[in-house]
Amino acid sequence: MTHFFDLPQFIEDAPSLAVNSGSEATAHKVAVIFDNVGKVFANARGVSTPALSNVSLNVARGEVFGIIGRSGAGKSTLLRLINGLEKPSSGAVRVNGVNVGELDERGLVTLRRRIGMVFQHFNLLSAKTVRENIALPLKIAGVPRAEIDRKVNALLELVGLTAKRDAYPASLSGGQKQRVGIARALVTDPDILLCDEATSALDPETTQAILALLRDINQRLNLTIVLITHEMQVIREVCDTVAVIERGEVVETGPVWRVFGDPQHDATRALLRTLVHDLPADLAERLKPLQDLKQADARILLDVRFTGADAREPDLGGLTSALSLEGGGVSFVHGGIDRIQGHAQGRLVVSAQLRASAENTPQKQIATLLERARRHANHVEVLGYV
Ligand SMILES: Nc1ncnc2c1ncn2[C@@H]1O[C@H](COP(=O)(O)OP(=O)(O)OP(=O)(O)O)[C@@H](O)[C@H]1O
Ligand SMILES: [Mg+2]
Repeated sequence: MTHFFDLPQFIEDAPSLAVNSGSEATAHKVAVIFDNVGKVFANARGVSTPALSNVSLNVARGEVFGIIGRSGAGKSTLLRLINGLEKPSSGAVRVNGVNVGELDERGLVTLRRRIGMVFQHFNLLSAKTVRENIALPLKIAGVPRAEIDRKVNALLELVGLTAKRDAYPASLSGGQKQRVGIARALVTDPDILLCDEATSALDPETTQAILALLRDINQRLNLTIVLITHEMQVIREVCDTVAVIERGEVVETGPVWRVFGDPQHDATRALLRTLVHDLPADLAERLKPLQDLKQADARILLDVRFTGADAREPDLGGLTSALSLEGGGVSFVHGGIDRIQGHAQGRLVVSAQLRASAENTPQKQIATLLERARRHANHVEVLGYV
């Protein structure tokens, strides 16, 4: 066998929490490759469910890779293919250059030592202390006690739980339990961490703290993280790349700022609805369609989107001037700008006053406004008038 399997394991290797010592493994720029992967589950009656099809994607080493999709889309299956808990029905999954589907039991054990996993419900042993929970994978591997203690203490410090060393899980908060889960996942010095809804059972503040911790270990340990979440703000805050899964297929993937700033697929738009500033009900109710517009002094509502694709910051001054026809008022009625990976993007609902006349009809004015506004934003559409 080649690749990291030949490397001395952390036991001989004096584990350190500093940058991963698997230099041969880190030489690969790609941590995980899905090459046209399909997965079909067959139930007891022989009825088969395709859970994944034609999945091809790369997870770059050291990145935080997010997976989003509706319930049942195939997210957990995709994650479980990475550590060999599932085998692909077709195609290949390569981790650190090794085809996971071809590994025997011994190979899988070695592989899983390089891949930590964190779960939504923590999966801690209630009869064991924090220290014992974290130590368990090393104990099973027969690591000497002194070595285990050194490792566990370093991890307790990393996750900020030194004071809870001898506590039992029942006495911990959800966030503390997840810190234990993360420490346990890191105890074998993995270079990939898989998180399946790791923050879903936590309140928003605790979620923030756990995300900060994940970001910190991602950077400090050069750890590749693949995470599943149904919380879009988790992706926005912590991920570099995101893949959208819909009915077992990857329908969209790319840097988070691009996918979130300009979603191409309906499934992505539906998932992002929680983040997008949709039109408030009171405005939606008063909104009338443009084809009915006769009034000379109507206010039109515009949907203005900044995708973050250009280096410029949204120029709201320029937009305001562009939308002011002969002193007609412009106001920002809804929306906001977010910053993702250095790209300012967002959606604004803007109202602009028309001042039409016999020769300069509302329709003509609207065409002019749109033409001018589009120089200052990536997408501008008229929603209607009020
Ligand atoms: N062991 C299994 N046996 C049979 N079918 C399975 C098995 N595991 C998953 N499936 C099916 O595969 C599909 C994808 O399941 P998966 O758990 O990957 O979805 P998911 O995106 O993680 O959903 P959720 O957001 O609800 O966790 C579903 O239709 C599911 O019923
Ligand atoms: Mg799942």
